[in-house]
Amino acid sequence: MEVLEDIRSDIAEADLSSPEAVESFRVKYLGKKRGLIVDLLKKIPEVAPENRRAYGQSVNGLKALVEERISASREQVEHRGYRAPVDVTLPGRLPAIGTLHPITQTRDAVLRIFERYGFGVADGPELEDEWHNFTALNFPSDHPARDMQDTLFVEQSVDGNSGVLLRTHTSPSQIRIMKETSPPVRVVVPGRVYRNEAISYKSYCLFHQVEGLYVDRSVSLADLRYILHMFARAMFGEDVRMRFRPSFFPFTEPSAEVDIWFPDETGGGRWMEILGCGMVDPNVLKAVDVDPDDYSGYAFGMGIERIAMLRYGITDIRVLYENDVRFLDQF
Ligand code: DAH
Repeated sequence: MEVLEDIRSDIAEADLSSPEAVESFRVKYLGKKRGLIVDLLKKIPEVAPENRRAYGQSVNGLKALVEERISASREQVEHRGYRAPVDVTLPGRLPAIGTLHPITQTRDAVLRIFERYGFGVADGPELEDEWHNFTALNFPSDHPARDMQDTLFVEQSVDGNSGVLLRTHTSPSQIRIMKETSPPVRVVVPGRVYRNEAISYKSYCLFHQVEGLYVDRSVSLADLRYILHMFARAMFGEDVRMRFRPSFFPFTEPSAEVDIWFPDETGGGRWMEILGCGMVDPNVLKAVDVDPDDYSGYAFGMGIERIAMLRYGITDIRVLYENDVRFLDQF
């Protein structure tokens, strides 16, 4: 009976905190072959007849205690598993990290290329006055771009210079920079521009440009062609095909537009315009007090959306402004 008492306290104190511990506890006491309780029951015939009843009751009491402990701890283990607020074995959840917008990525790629050729980076205001946006850039006073149909005016013009508007291009930053610094000047200016345009797959009421300006003694058209060719190669690959097409802008003479050849899968392809450029018009240099007999310069302005669309195969400009995360996640 003393031995039984020891066994009882072993049972009562056994550590059953894990499913494995519960299982070996069960085998130890109730296992069919070597289980302690089973052994004890087998010994009943050996016990003196007058003690058998008490012995049998004690052993059955032990058995009941074993079973009770097993079921209580199973319940507890299951319960714990079910209620657990965290499963520390799961891999952690990564925080959602944003990506740079494709326009930002493209703008940065453009700037990096020009920086390699010694261009500084500057910026200018989005809210401009009519003089910087048009007059100083040699736009005649009756130019249609000055019309409300094309330009978003914030304040009406009274004299053809005083109007306040959302800049229609980054070219007014040429004026601001040349007013502040004397040549040599070599900068690129990224920024947002606005136009009062019907919205479609190819035009939006706002978009982005990078303006380029280089003014020094004896800058030539050959320098312009060279820098733009190097740019196109860096941006679109070593064997890019590029063409200069004569064009017209009030602030450059001569003026050109640059097209890039985009081959398609069928072996064909098409020319896509990516920028306007030219030699800074002498009237523009005069407007900022630079002597056109001493200095010359080139300028260019490219559309970032255009380049981003070509770069990533985007066919509708509007997706760049919808902020749909499913779209943005791809970049
Ligand atoms: N500002 C022109 C536009 O918005 C682009 C442009 C053309 C910029 C020729 C230039 C340039 O600097 O020389 O369409």
